[in-house]
Amino acid sequence: MYKLIDGKQISTAIKDELKEEIKRDGIKATLAVIQVGNDPASSVYVGNKKKACEYIGIGSRSYELGEDTTEAELLDLIDRLNADDEITGILTQLPVPKHIDEKKIINRISPSKDVDGFHPENVGNLCIGQSGFVSCTPAGIMELLKRSGIDIEGKRCVVIGRSNIVGKPMALLLLAANGTVTVCHSRTKDLKQICKEADILVAAVGRPKMITSEYIKEGAVVIDVGIHRMDNGKLCGDVDFDDVKDHTSYITPVPGGVGPMTIAMLMVNCVFAARQKQK
Ligand code: GUN
Repeated sequence: MYKLIDGKQISTAIKDELKEEIKRDGIKATLAVIQVGNDPASSVYVGNKKKACEYIGIGSRSYELGEDTTEAELLDLIDRLNADDEITGILTQLPVPKHIDEKKIINRISPSKDVDGFHPENVGNLCIGQSGFVSCTPAGIMELLKRSGIDIEGKRCVVIGRSNIVGKPMALLLLAANGTVTVCHSRTKDLKQICKEADILVAAVGRPKMITSEYIKEGAVVIDVGIHRMDNGKLCGDVDFDDVKDHTSYITPVPGGVGPMTIAMLMVNCVFAARQKQK
């Protein structure tokens, strides 16, 4: 019988712990959230991030910029927020419109306020095992594994997906926890066979229900990063949950698995940023 990893419950526990910590230690934090354009999915994420700030007791300032905002204007706003003493964390919701260079935006946010963990300095710190901000989704997955009592040391870990936001930092975190890590992607040959060796499988493929039981080793831990809206209006992940679940020891559902953890870990990063500043 498999165990369901309840990301909703774990994320609420984390936010409640942060709320206590902020009250106890009198932490002062303000997150600046920038959104360019009005992509509906981004608006939902941004709204949830602001709600989470309010819930744990930190401030948020929101910057909703028009679709036609120039790269120079956005960079100028980031410069002002970098210099603003009240602001302890900054994030630009991605994707940004095509006429803006995402890399330039990521690189401009001060590494000490980069609560998304996307700046090369923070990515570099993660890579060599130094303290810094870690990308929220993979950090959230590590927390799910830890709080479910799942040991990583010596395990075969397979990550499907090599994005800068999820796949690459995920692989680095599992490696730092002494996992034996393989990263697969769209050009990988024999994907099924590789996945079938995984004790811990992280699917960040971006294709609905692609991972069926044929990809799963009996008793594996399966983490589903995908989220897709099906024609019937329901949400599903990259994993075919109903087909896979009985072959796993632990599995995350969609919704209510990895998703809520991303925002909880953003809050962890916001509190970390404020603490670092107060030091
Ligand atoms: N777009 C998709 N995921 C993320 C994220 O974690 N942070 C930001 N800023 N944008 C995103």
